[in-house]
Amino acid sequence: MTQRMTTKTVDELTRAEAKTELARLAKEIAQHDELYYRRDAPEISDADYDALRLRNAAIEERFPELRRPDSPSRRIGASPVEAFGKVRHAVPMLSLGNAFADEEVAEFGARVRRFLGLGAKEPVEMVAEPKIDGLSISLTYVRSRLALAATRGDGEEGENVTANVMTIRQVPPRLTGTDVPERIEVRGEIYLPHADFKKLNEEQAAAGAKLFANPRNAAAGSLRQLDPSITARRPLGFFAYGWGDASSLPANTQSGVVEAFGAWGLPINPLMRICRSVDEMLGFYRKVALERADLGYDIDGIVYKVNRLDWQERLGFVSRAPRWAIAHKFPAEEATTRVLEITIQVGRTGALTPAAKLEPVTVGGVVVSNATLHNEDEIARKDIRVGDTVLVRRAGDVIPQVLGVVKEKRPQHAKPYKMPEVCPACGSKAVREGGDVVRRCTGGLICPAQRKERLKHFVSRNAFDIEGLGEKQIELFYDEGRIIQPADIFTLAARDARLSEADRLTSKKGFGAKSVENLFKAIEARRKVPLDRFIYALGIRHVGETTGRDLAKALGTFEAFRTAAEAATAGGEGSDAYQDLDNIEGIGSTVIDALIAFFSEPHNVAALDDLVAEVTVEPLVRSRSAASPVAGKTVVFTGTLERMTRNEAKAVAERLGAKVAGSVSKKTDYVIAGADAGSKLAKAREAGVSVLTEDEWLRLAGRA
Ligand code: IVH
Repeated sequence: MTQRMTTKTVDELTRAEAKTELARLAKEIAQHDELYYRRDAPEISDADYDALRLRNAAIEERFPELRRPDSPSRRIGASPVEAFGKVRHAVPMLSLGNAFADEEVAEFGARVRRFLGLGAKEPVEMVAEPKIDGLSISLTYVRSRLALAATRGDGEEGENVTANVMTIRQVPPRLTGTDVPERIEVRGEIYLPHADFKKLNEEQAAAGAKLFANPRNAAAGSLRQLDPSITARRPLGFFAYGWGDASSLPANTQSGVVEAFGAWGLPINPLMRICRSVDEMLGFYRKVALERADLGYDIDGIVYKVNRLDWQERLGFVSRAPRWAIAHKFPAEEATTRVLEITIQVGRTGALTPAAKLEPVTVGGVVVSNATLHNEDEIARKDIRVGDTVLVRRAGDVIPQVLGVVKEKRPQHAKPYKMPEVCPACGSKAVREGGDVVRRCTGGLICPAQRKERLKHFVSRNAFDIEGLGEKQIELFYDEGRIIQPADIFTLAARDARLSEADRLTSKKGFGAKSVENLFKAIEARRKVPLDRFIYALGIRHVGETTGRDLAKALGTFEAFRTAAEAATAGGEGSDAYQDLDNIEGIGSTVIDALIAFFSEPHNVAALDDLVAEVTVEPLVRSRSAASPVAGKTVVFTGTLERMTRNEAKAVAERLGAKVAGSVSKKTDYVIAGADAGSKLAKAREAGVSVLTEDEWLRLAGRA
C-alpha cells in the first residue's frame, strides 16, 4: 500500500475534496491497523501513521458535518466521560474452576463424561487455549457495529467503558462478513503486552508517577481512565474467546464460533487448538508452558472447553463457573526473603490470624511485603521463626503464602514462634475450641477489633458501600464512640445535630462542613439497600457475596430471609425449616449452621432490629428464570431417567428456578418419575402430588 497524501493543505480543500479524502483516509488507516495488529506486518512508520490520523482529524475539524460513521477519530480521544455508568449483563459473566495437577484435568474430563452419560470410548473434543492474564470485557455488536463495551464487574453488573474501548485499535468498531448475527455480545480479554508495559512504566517513572505492579494492573488502569484519550495512548491488546447474549451463532462448536470471530475481524488467540484426549490436553499445556516467556503477554494457565455447544448447554453451570470448562493454572511464581516480624490480626469473627512481615521482595513483578501464615499449627508445621529466610509464592490475586523455611540460613538466636494466648486487641483470653485450628478471641462483645472489623465489613464496597465512610473513618468514629454498631451509622447525623457546637463532627480536624455534609448525604443514599448486599453486610460467617445472593434470590425479601433463618434456629437440624434452607441452591449445612449461630445470639438480633428500623431492605428482583412455569416449584426426581442423567436433570431444574428435593413432602409440587420408580412414586400418589413422566417434565421445562 502506498501513501497518497494530497499535497493540498487542509485549509485549501474544497468541501467535495474533503469528503473524498475522508473516505480515503478511513479506508487507508483501517488497512494499516489491519497490517499492524493482525498481520504483524506494518508498511509505514509510526510517524507516518500518526500523520494520517492527524490529517483526518484536521479535516474533520474544518468540516465536522463530514465526519464519517467509520472515521478513525471515533476510535480515539472521544470526549471524556464523567464516570462510568453501570451495565447489567444479560448473561452473567462467570469465572472458571481451577485445576493445578494433571489428575484434576483427568477428573474434569471424567466428570464431563459422567454428566453427559458418555462411555469412556466416546470421543469428546476439547478446545485448549491460553488463559490470558488481563481483564475480561464484554463487547456488544449490533448490526455489526460496536454498540457497548462493559467490564466484568461483579459478574452481574459491570461498568460502561465504551468510549475507552473505542480507542483500542485491536477492537474493531465494525465486524465484517455477511454471517454476523444481528446482535452478538463478544467476550474476551484486554491485556497489555510486555514491551508496552515496560515502556509505560518507564514513562511513569520519568514523570514521577506511580509504577504499575504488573501488566494486568496496568491494563486495568489504562482502561478505567476517565479520559479516553489516555486509554488511546496505551497500546492495549485484545483476544476474543467467548460470547454472552447473541441473536444467533455462526457455528455449533466453540472453535467454530471463535473462528468466525476471527473471520469477522476480531483478534483471536493463534494458539487455540482442539484436543481429543486428556493426554493431548496435557501435552498442549506443557508445550505452551515452555513458550510462555516468549509470547510477549502474560498468561496464567490453559483453559479447556468442551467443543460441542449442545453439550456445553447441557453441562451448564455450577455455582459461579461452567461445568464445561476449566482453567489449568501454571505454577505460581516464587522468591525468597526474610521474616522481619510475625503480627496478629483479629478478624470480625474473632479469629487471630498470624501474618509475616517480610523484607520487600519482587515476586512475578509484584512487590510483596506481607504473607499470610494461616494459623499457629501451620507456623509450627513449617517451623517459621522471626529472622528466617523463607520461600514465598504468589499466585494471581491470592495473598502471598510462605511455602517453607531455608533452614541453612536460620540465625542462631531464632526461637520457635509462640502464638499469644490473649487477644492483642482487647486482652480477653484467646482459645482454640474443639478441633479448631483457629484461635479465637472470647471477648466477642467487648473486643473492639471484632466490632471494628464488622463495621468495616459493613461499609465495604460490596456491602453498604458508603462513600466517605471507609476503614479509617470507622476506626476514628468507633474510638470516639460515635459509631459502635451498624444502626449508629444511620443515626449519626441526627445525633450530631444534637451535640454542642464544639463536639460536632464539623469541629473535628480534617472534617470541613462540606465533607461532613457529603458524608451525611452518602449515608442517606444508602438507607435503601438490596437484599443480597444487606445479607452480605451482616458479616455472618460463611455468608459471602455469592451466598448472600443465593439466599436473596431464593427468599426474595428480608422478611422471608429472617423468618426462614429464625425458623431453622428454633427447629434446629432435621426440622422442615432447616431442610427448606438446605434445598436452596448453593446453601448447605455450613451456611445454615452459621445462620443459626448468628440468630441464636440475642445481641445480634438486637443489632439487626436496630438496623432494620433505620433502613429499607429492597426485595431482590427475580431473575429471568422466574418466567419459567417451574420457577419456585419444588420437584423430586425418582427412578431412572432416559434422556439425561440425574445430575443433569437436577441442574436444569435449578437453572429454571425450581428447588430439587430428595424426598416427597407436602411441599412437593411435582414428582418426575422415570423407569422403575419405587417408594417415592407411591408416596406422591398417596399425598396427591402431581406425577409427571420424563417427557412431560421436559415439555414443562421448555426442554422438549
Ligand atoms: S472462558 C464462563 N477463556 O479467566 C467463563 N476465560 O477465571 C468463561 N480468561 O473472567 C471464561 N483467558 O477473564 C475464558 N481463554 C479464556 C480466558 C479466560 C482469560 C479469564 C476471563 C475470566 C477468567 C475466569
